[in-house]
Amino acid sequence: MSKRIDKLSNLSDNQLILLRDTNTGEEKEAILIKDENDDYQLWLNYCQHITTVKLDKGDGLTERGDEIVCENHGAMFKKSTGRCTYGPCEGAVLPSVDTISEGGALYLSDEQYELESLDVQNDDDMNSTSGESDYS
Ligand code: FES
Repeated sequence: MSKRIDKLSNLSDNQLILLRDTNTGEEKEAILIKDENDDYQLWLNYCQHITTVKLDKGDGLTERGDEIVCENHGAMFKKSTGRCTYGPCEGAVLPSVDTISEGGALYLSDEQYELESLDVQNDDDMNSTSGESDYS
C-alpha cells in the first residue's frame, strides 16, 4: 500500500527525506530528485564507491547538468537512472526507492521503506571515507 509523502508543491528538488528500512529498522536518507524528464526519482543518499559516504552531506547536492556528483572522488550518477557514468564505481547504480506521483502528491510505494521524516537532521557520523566498497 502506498503511503503519502507530501503534496508535490511542498516538496523541493534535491530534498533529503529520512526513511526507515522495514526489514532492518535502520534509518536511511534519500534524495528526492527531479530529473531531466521532470520525473521524480528517490535515490538513497549514499555513494556506491564507499557506501557510507553521503552524496549530500547536509550542505547541498553537487550537480553537473543531469548528473549528481560525489565530491569525494568525483563519481557521477545520472539523475534519471542512478547509474554511475564516470568514476571509481562506474556502472554501479544508486539504490532506488519506489514512489508514485499522483493527484499532485508523491506517495511512497516501496514496501522496503516507511517514511520517518521530511526534516532530516545532519549530525553526520556517516561522512567518513572509511567504509565498504566493491570498487576500491
Ligand atoms: S566515495 Fe564517492 S566517489 Fe569515492
